[in-house]
Parts: sequence; C-alpha cells; structure tokens
Amino acid sequence: MTQQTPAPSGPPAGCPAHDGAVPLSGLEYQQTPSQLYRSLRREHGPVAPVLLDGGVPAWLVLGYSEVSYVTAHDELFARDSRRWNQWEHIPEDWPLMPFVGYQPSVLFTEGAEHQRRAGVITHALEQVDQFELARDCAQIADRLISAFAGSGQAELMDAYAHALPMVAAVQMCGMPHAGSDTQDLVDDLRISLDAAEGDDPVAAYVRVGERIQNLVKEKRERPGADVTSRMIQDEAGLTDEEIVQDLISVIAAAQQPTANWICNTLRLLLTDERFALNVSGGRLSVGEALNEVLWLDTPTQNFIGRWAARDIQLGGRQIRAGDCLVLGLAAANTDPQIWPESHVGAENAAHLSFSNGEHRCPYPAPLLADVIARTAVETLLDRLPDIVLSVDPRELTWRPSIWMRGLTSLPVSFTPVVQ
Ligand code: HEM
Repeated sequence: MTQQTPAPSGPPAGCPAHDGAVPLSGLEYQQTPSQLYRSLRREHGPVAPVLLDGGVPAWLVLGYSEVSYVTAHDELFARDSRRWNQWEHIPEDWPLMPFVGYQPSVLFTEGAEHQRRAGVITHALEQVDQFELARDCAQIADRLISAFAGSGQAELMDAYAHALPMVAAVQMCGMPHAGSDTQDLVDDLRISLDAAEGDDPVAAYVRVGERIQNLVKEKRERPGADVTSRMIQDEAGLTDEEIVQDLISVIAAAQQPTANWICNTLRLLLTDERFALNVSGGRLSVGEALNEVLWLDTPTQNFIGRWAARDIQLGGRQIRAGDCLVLGLAAANTDPQIWPESHVGAENAAHLSFSNGEHRCPYPAPLLADVIARTAVETLLDRLPDIVLSVDPRELTWRPSIWMRGLTSLPVSFTPVVQ
C-alpha cells in the first residue's frame, strides 16, 4: 500500500493541472475556509487543484452538482484508496494516513462487497430504539452537566460536546460504561483525525483498533442487545477482523461529526441573535439551528475521498486515472449555483453534509445523530438556561483539521447550580 519515500515538498514537477494549486491547510484556511472556497471557485471553477499535507496534489470538488455526480457514480469515482497514483510519494507517517490509507473496512470496499458490509451496519443500527437512545443521551448529558454545573463555568468542547456522542456511541456498541478506557478512546480518535504538534496519529489509530478488538472478543462470548452483537450475529457472517474494522468506522463516524455538530450548533445559538432567548418567545428553534449548521458550518467539511477509476473530465478538468478527489461538502452546500441570490437558506435537508450515493452516511445513522445532537443541545439549555459565551465570539478558534469543522474550545458561563 505505502512506500517509505519522504513526503514531497510540492506537486510533481511538470504537472500542469496543478499550476496554482492551493494548500488545504494553514491558518487562513482553518479560520475562514469559506473565503478560500469562494476564491478557488472564482479562479478554478467547480473542481480546483489543491495540495494536501506535504504538498500532495488532489482535486477539491467544490460544486454542488459535481459532488452529487461524483458520489452518485462510484464506478467512475471509486472508494478504494489503493487506486491512488501518488502512493510512491507518501511516507508511512503521513498525517492523513489513518483515514486515507487503505483499511479493509466498509469505507474502502466497493460494489457487492460494500453492499454486504454496509448492509450489516444498517441492520444493526436500524434496531437502535430512538426513544431509548434519547433517554440514554439525556442521562449522559445530565451526568456531564452535573460535573461542572456547580462552578458556573465550563469549557464545553472537552466537558460536553466530545464526551457525549462518544459515550452514546460506545454504549450503543455495548462497551462497558464510561471509564478511563472510554476517555482514552475519545482522545485517540481525535488524535488520529487531526493530530496536534507532538501527537502520533498512526499509533493512536493502532490503539483504537486494539480496544475495539477486545470489545468484539467479549461480545462473541457474551452477546447483548447492542450494535456489536448484532453485527456478529448478522447472517452475512462477517469475520472478527471485518467487524473490528467496521466498528471503528461506525464509532469514528459517529463521534467526531456529531461532536462538531453539537458544538457548531451551540456556537450558533450562543452568538446569533436570531436564536437568542427573549421574553417574546420569538426565537428560532434548536431544530432550525441544527439544520442551519448542516448547511453553513457542516461538521465534515471535506471528505477524502474518491479515486478516479479511469481518465475522465469533471467540471472542465482533465482528471487522470488514480487521481484523488476531495469531496468539498461545505463548499458544495454554499455553491452560488444553488443559491443564486447569495443567500443560503436552510429550510430543507437537501445539503450534502451526509454525502450522497452508495457510500453516503448510512441510513439510519443521520437520524441517530440527530437524536444525539438534539438531546445534547436541548438538555444543556434546559439545565443552564442563562448560559452565555464567556469570551468575545471573535476569539473562538477552529481546529486545524481538513476533515472536520469544529472549535478548539467553547468557554461558557452561567449561574452556578446548587445540586
Ligand atoms: C450516530 C452517528 C453516525 C453514525 C453511526 C455514522 C456512520 C457512518 C458510517 C458507517 C459511514 C461509512 C459509510 C460507507 O462508507 O458506506 C459514514 C459516512 C459518512 N458520514 Fe456518518 N455517521 C454518523 C453521524 C454523522 C454526522 C453527524 C455527519 C455529518 C453531519 C456524518 C457524515 C458522514 C459523511 C460525510 C460520510 C462519508 C460518506 C462518503 O464517503 O461519501 N455522519 N457515517
């Protein structure tokens, strides 16, 4: 799969398609990606040449109709990253390796094999009772809030937004209740998706795998009413290795985007006066805030990706077989082609935040994510009704991730609750 060569310092010499390619990283990108998407669209159209970490060339698909087309045609734009024509330039410790390097998981399977694996996940998730999930999430939320409610202040990213969906996801999968193991899993997943200085994302990903392996072993011996046991019992007969791989995908896919969905919604509610609590009761609802975030500040802002199965034209670009396409989900949602009046409405659910096509976030995961996020936000506002941001909104900073749009911290204050 991978080679030991050093990372390249730029696009391959003489690659005319990547003239003017823009790095998808850096401070400007992190804080205001929408401006970068706008200027890329102006300069390059709906498919722009970009550079991933280490200067590795890829295409960012920015257009709503182009992302829809790419995701709807998996025979042309396939999911198995071993198709990439850049592997010889990628070092083993490349920071994006954990979720771009091929793994034998549902994420990278294609055709009939993908249908088999995704089917098992769908069946297992379908049996999650949404009312029970809401009740469990309200209890998790209560526990987390009680831990800081007496102090009158909190940093919600660590204390709440990341912890809640992680505990909900591992409980759904039948992992023993929250403990230090669960916290380690949260930390390792976060490191493997967007490592900070000094982190080792590849080692973190290995630790995630070891924890899930233990879970599958336990559930083979003592099955329960949980997603892991249902995947083991499915008549598709997945091997333990396949189940471990797919459970990592389920938990990672559930935790990170749902955490950022919660945090971006709380940020909107705490900073935008349309949502401010007021005596006239005229505020927009939590449901409207959740939906607006999916259009304007979607948690999975980019997804890597798809790999061209053959030479093909897209958005006026000549894509070569094996080229990598990054799905620009955030850019597509705000494409001026679908919002000609330059006003992004958020009235419906036609955004691409859950992607599209064969590999889209599998039914019923978006519904479960909605239950988790909605319960998290509503419970917090119920318990701490006078909660306010404790810094100027302009001081909030975004995490340095190409995948995820989420804050580094969300400090709040409120009247301390005597318990
Ligand atoms: C309970 C919560 C969730 C679960 C269990 C879940 C599960 C999954 C799984 C298993 C996949 C892989 C699908 C495949 O390759 O066939 C996936 C993909 C994806 N999910 Fe979710 N997810 C959850 C929440 C979310 C949220 C909140 C978002 C963003 C708003 C999201 C966005 C995506 C995207 C963009 C993909 C990639 C699809 C592609 O390759 O085109 N998911 N999800």
